Amino acid sequence: MLVLGFESSCDETGVALVDTKRGLLAHALYSQVAMHAEYGGVVPELASRDHIRKLTPLLEKVIADANLISSDVDAIAYTAGPGLVGALLTGAAYARSLALAWDIPALPVHHMEGHLLAPMLELDPPDFPFVALLVSGGHTMLVDVRGLGDYTLLGESLDDAVGEAFDKTAKLLELGYPGGPAIERLAKQQLSGSLLQAQNPFKFSRPMTDRPGLDFSFSGLKTQVVTHVNKWRAQHDFSEDMELDEQTTVHVAAAFQDAVVDTLTIKCNRALQQTGRRQLVVAGGVGANQALREQLKTLPDTQVWFPRLEFCTDNGAMIAYAGGRRLEQMTPEQQQTLQSDLSVQARPRWPLHELTPPE
Ligand code: KG4
Ligand code: ZN
Repeated sequence: MLVLGFESSCDETGVALVDTKRGLLAHALYSQVAMHAEYGGVVPELASRDHIRKLTPLLEKVIADANLISSDVDAIAYTAGPGLVGALLTGAAYARSLALAWDIPALPVHHMEGHLLAPMLELDPPDFPFVALLVSGGHTMLVDVRGLGDYTLLGESLDDAVGEAFDKTAKLLELGYPGGPAIERLAKQQLSGSLLQAQNPFKFSRPMTDRPGLDFSFSGLKTQVVTHVNKWRAQHDFSEDMELDEQTTVHVAAAFQDAVVDTLTIKCNRALQQTGRRQLVVAGGVGANQALREQLKTLPDTQVWFPRLEFCTDNGAMIAYAGGRRLEQMTPEQQQTLQSDLSVQARPRWPLHELTPPE
């Protein structure tokens, strides 16, 4: 079955073609990051408008790259939530209209289920069951995954998502948006030596690791960064309007990343112990972080799986894949129902645990 997937929940427009037997055939991605960077974060209205601009060219590219014609497509999968409502609506309305024109089913897909299954696009994919760490700009979750749609939430962030903490800390250090890659780049400089001479004077706590449970909290970490940087400024006669020197910025970035990576590792270890699982899947934008990847690989008796770097952040391939997994388990009658249901679904809030396995 040939499935065309659309992703437009935030600031990336993604389109992809997945064959449920042969795997990924083609994908195209357009990131709006440069446009939003000017504002220090995603501007929802601009995001929606830009998705509209990019959906058709990306679709044409994907069909051409796969050497196919539109009538080869059997079904469409689109991100229906969670995400920015306007951005979701553009992709959903586009996908639903295309399905109507092409006389094929359109399936609404949960964005986080897409992230969760993204490592399965790789050659040596994980198999159910596993524990998943979902870490993105909007979510931080540990999930026990027993099968498609069979998810139990083990823990989540009580406040900021971990990607959000990276972005806010980067903003504070005036590193621009998105913050994750910028902080990672700086933290690497500490490791690479030239700035290592001075011992890192910053150390931040590992939030909520000193008590049982699998929930997270990252907003306090951001506040700690502010407090420590202000203290450092006072000690070094650095007024608020003076830019931090490079070495100090590197030290703060590295100490912040260390705290996040340690915290996530401790909780993953705990989740694996609690569930008795030996497989860990890591997905979502923060899953692109190399320091996190390296540290998680050291977890004892655990096989760790990641999507390739470009499929950690939002993309159409994961949506086409997740849609394909569900579509291939549907009866012809269920697919027919999807085809005749012309509703356009966009759910800004959509808890993952509301999903159920295919009937
Ligand atoms: O999954 P994603 O593309 O979008 C959401 O669904 O939120 O994740 C974006 C988030 C941003 O907060 C970004 O700063 C973070 O992922 N991120 C990273 C890295 N690359 C992206 N965080 C840490 N290290 C990275 N290399
Ligand atoms: Zn995402």
